Amino acid sequence: MTDLFDIEHDSFGYDEPTLDKLFETLKQEVRSSSANYSQEVFRLHWLGRKQGRLKTLREGWSKSAPPEALKPLGIRFNQLKQQIEAALAGAAATPVASAAKSCLDFSLPGSVRAMGIQHPLLKTMQEIVSVFHDLGYSTALGPQVESDFYNFEALNFPPNHPARDTQDTLVLADQQAKPSRERLLMRTHTSPVQIRSMIAQAPPVRIVVPGKVHRNDAADATHSPVFHQVEGLCVDANITFSDLKGTLDHAMKALFGSAVKTRFFPSFFPFTEPSADVQISCIFCAGNGCRKCKNSGWIELLGCGMVDPAVFASVTEARRKINQADDAYNPEKISGFAFGMGVERIAMIQHGISEIGHFYSGDMRFLEQFA
Ligand code: DAH
Repeated sequence: MTDLFDIEHDSFGYDEPTLDKLFETLKQEVRSSSANYSQEVFRLHWLGRKQGRLKTLREGWSKSAPPEALKPLGIRFNQLKQQIEAALAGAAATPVASAAKSCLDFSLPGSVRAMGIQHPLLKTMQEIVSVFHDLGYSTALGPQVESDFYNFEALNFPPNHPARDTQDTLVLADQQAKPSRERLLMRTHTSPVQIRSMIAQAPPVRIVVPGKVHRNDAADATHSPVFHQVEGLCVDANITFSDLKGTLDHAMKALFGSAVKTRFFPSFFPFTEPSADVQISCIFCAGNGCRKCKNSGWIELLGCGMVDPAVFASVTEARRKINQADDAYNPEKISGFAFGMGVERIAMIQHGISEIGHFYSGDMRFLEQFA
């Protein structure tokens, strides 16, 4: 509420209608404070001898008012004082009525505040991560503003690979003066965290990497320039493609139900060899064929493969630069697999959502369905 006392006195007139309006506001303030304050706080607030509001208002105004306004002001201040005293007398005479006076009706239903919920995307991301936590993986995180080295070069993307093109990658401005590997960009996938983690630690490595990624894509029903991935990396002695298949088959069953089947199709990623796309049997038609799976009975869900020795070589070179000259990542001694999946895509399949934009809209009608 505007404190009348703070108003520049010159900024309003002292004519009767203006005074009436101002004192009406004050009367209202008396009413609401008598309802909300205890009797003693109310008394001190208005009638306190040193700082009482009535006294400070009256003194302040009397000083700045023109002489002809003193009488109408005085009358109104007296009325206000009577109102305050009446409110005090009323409270003293009928203490039991104070609950009613305070406008509280305990018989009314309370106002229910909806509990916040985890956003459906984060929920799915957490579910994926916890499936791997249960297998002994830990979580690793990395920056969203990444260098070309981690995002591409160390992952064996050749210099002219189309993914490095600004058609796909959002690059930061003013990077041309830097050597190519130091140029900054918004990470296009969570795979650079594989490199960061291996540089930082010797095998065994078992990590999952949830996070935001960015692509220069136009938004449509299934694409968004910012989306989420969960990456996985397992490096140890004797890791084979069977381990990869078994791990992902288990993860898909944990996420989509034990009836789900998986199959692996040859694919290509610069940082894995061999590479595969993983498909699951369509959860909408149990593999019989429907619109969602384009009648194939299968849904493509993620990419994976065995870590390419060229990636281990980049890691070894980078470790040497930070004085970790060892052969911890000698591909003769260790091997590994990696995988990466889109969180939006998985959440959309889990919940039968056909528009990726719902996740980012903040529309309560959408979000409430996950409460
Ligand atoms: N980084 C890939 C992408 O964004 C996904 C991916 C594929 C990650 C295969 C992997 C992998 O770790 O092994 O399209």
